[in-house]
Amino acid sequence: MWISFIGFMASGKSSAARALGEATRLPVVDLDAAVAGQAGRALPDIFATEGVAGFRARESRALADLDPDGQLLLATGGGVVEGEDNVRRLRAGGPVIWLDVPWEAVRRRLGAAAEAQRRPLVEHLGWGGLELLFRRRQRLYAGAADFRLRADLESPLAVARQALARALQWWERHDRDAAGGEAPRGGGGV
Ligand code: S3P
Repeated sequence: MWISFIGFMASGKSSAARALGEATRLPVVDLDAAVAGQAGRALPDIFATEGVAGFRARESRALADLDPDGQLLLATGGGVVEGEDNVRRLRAGGPVIWLDVPWEAVRRRLGAAAEAQRRPLVEHLGWGGLELLFRRRQRLYAGAADFRLRADLESPLAVARQALARALQWWERHDRDAAGGEAPRGGGGV
């Protein structure tokens, strides 16, 4: 089973996945890092040479390369929900947890230079464009997720604990549905 974290840039997906990985000893996969590793280049470089479309294609490939039956904690990139196939894969893997953070907190976190530098879209879109993207994405995250957690008020470990509780809930329901011969889950939605 996978436990996947989705959400906008700087919502704490990687931190929560890492904290959960330390607590459970499950392997953590960071999709951005997997893309960079496979390309042998950093994300800003990929964006500069291959554009957003090139990056998205790489992201989808990196996701498709993961073992669907593996046990892992997956920190996705904020744009993974742009691809319907990506969302299908995440949902087939296991519970999908949306780390929801208000725009003001995103803005504040991304305002730190080191955070913005790793994320080419910040420079590319500017704050106005980024806020529009944030608003548009909220619907996509809501549609893809099994659970939504407010993620800016607590530590990564506290968020990770809540995520684990939700994942266990998901698992129980999944087993019950399988035993009862229920149809597999369709689309998401929180
Ligand atoms: C992106 C989010 C980034 C990274 C890339 C594009 C996006 O990941 O995948 O810069 O489109 O929202 P994080 O959410 O981990 O910053």
